[in-house]
Amino acid sequence: MRITVNRRAHFNAAHRLYNKAWDDATNERVFGKCSNPNFHGHNYELIVGITGEIDPVTGYLIDLKIVKDMIKSEVEDVLDHKNLNIEVPEFKNLNPTVENIAVVIYNKMKNVLDDKYDLTITLYETPRNFVVYTGT
Ligand code: NI
Repeated sequence: MRITVNRRAHFNAAHRLYNKAWDDATNERVFGKCSNPNFHGHNYELIVGITGEIDPVTGYLIDLKIVKDMIKSEVEDVLDHKNLNIEVPEFKNLNPTVENIAVVIYNKMKNVLDDKYDLTITLYETPRNFVVYTGT
């Protein structure tokens, strides 16, 4: 029997979407307001889903305190109140779209999570726009 536990988290971050190979006009045409050279912010909502078997001893899938601490060290401490383009090395040469941010979060969380679990990252950039990444 497999079950998924979810933990919600939140961070604010600034970004600019652009392709270095293009001029500002082309970037604005493709990325619209998100290509503002002076950056802009989003309130990101994150749902970290962890799937596996219930431990018969504890009745837990995983202690959510552990998940909370992982999200703090791997996501919040790294991304919250940061300019993603400038301050987060993963986005030095990677466009900080919601898609790419979800993949970066997935990889960082997967690094510290026991291999017996499957991971699902759901990331909202706005209340209506969100992505889901399961590592495949
Ligand atoms: Ni944006």
